[in-house]
Amino acid sequence: MRILSGIQPSGTMHVGNYLGAVKQWVSSQNPDAYYCVVDLHALTLDIDPDELREKTIDCVATLLAAGIDPEIATVFVQSNVAAHAKLNWLLECVATFGELNRMTQFKEKSGRQKGYRVGLLTYPVLMAGDILLYDAEQVPVGDDQRQHLELTRVLAERFNSRYGETFTVPVGYVPHAAARVMDLQDPSRKMSKSLSSPLGSLYLFDEPSEIEKKIKKAVTDTDGEVQFDQKKKPGLSNLLEIYASFSNETPHEVAARYTRYGDLKNDLAELIVASLTPIRNRYRELRSDPAQLNAIITLGAKKASAIADPVYERAAKAMGLIGG
Ligand code: TYM
Repeated sequence: MRILSGIQPSGTMHVGNYLGAVKQWVSSQNPDAYYCVVDLHALTLDIDPDELREKTIDCVATLLAAGIDPEIATVFVQSNVAAHAKLNWLLECVATFGELNRMTQFKEKSGRQKGYRVGLLTYPVLMAGDILLYDAEQVPVGDDQRQHLELTRVLAERFNSRYGETFTVPVGYVPHAAARVMDLQDPSRKMSKSLSSPLGSLYLFDEPSEIEKKIKKAVTDTDGEVQFDQKKKPGLSNLLEIYASFSNETPHEVAARYTRYGDLKNDLAELIVASLTPIRNRYRELRSDPAQLNAIITLGAKKASAIADPVYERAAKAMGLIGG
């Protein structure tokens, strides 16, 4: 099954990224899976060039540390495959302004800044191209990417009906538990790289003491009953989902074992520390060997281009570009 997914290298990876997406990438990796560090997407917001370079390498190392094996799946950096930027233009001439202007993430992000970049508006088109270039059948993502994925399907279908069968229409895959991990301090907001309060986000490389503190201080409620109920008990239910995702159970199964919030929180902190410590150790090893990381990035670019370049040519030709 051809799989493609992507992650932005802006900021440190948090538990939402890991449980909502990367954990699925690891379990579904196969020789036909392509995982992309989307550095072009990171340019839509203000980011220092040196920081972007560092974070891009960090992100590749984190994916490998989380369990993606470059001998099985392909990990690559988006800007290393020129077809992404090229297809973006073709698809910008297929998408409409109204479609992009309606995107929830655009409305949220553009509302927070004056003079936002045009790339923030056209971002979902670049993302659609990321997916369509690989003839992806399945796209494992967290819940917040559903709308972008739906737009990808619409653009693929429109392109195919206007210019002839060209793209595979992809299907999203959103996990059952932890598809939308919420901020630990404000469970009405999703956990995010940029917007969370200091104790609201759990980062993959937080120290164990930091993890314990954040879980202990996580907002719950005062009625004291351990039940999975996202509407009435959003804070506690978020903790149950995080637990269930790490332990591969359902939130209800986890809830049934506990009567006290304190016990649940203690065990959850222990479970997270035990799950993340090996990832942190592997990350440190990988990060200390830049030559090996560079070799993996170079190989990834070659393997990704071999798939993406012919698909770009197919699309360009279908639209009437003479190619070359
Ligand atoms: P990004 O970098 O914001 O997030 C990467 C992945 O993590 C998921 N995620 C979450 N899942 C659960 N709970 C959360 N709180 C949470 N926060 C983030 C996201 O859903 C995503 O799967 N536009 C994408 C990157 C992208 C992409 C692509 C994805 C670019 N091209 C092609 C798939 C296919 C983004 O900004 O993800």
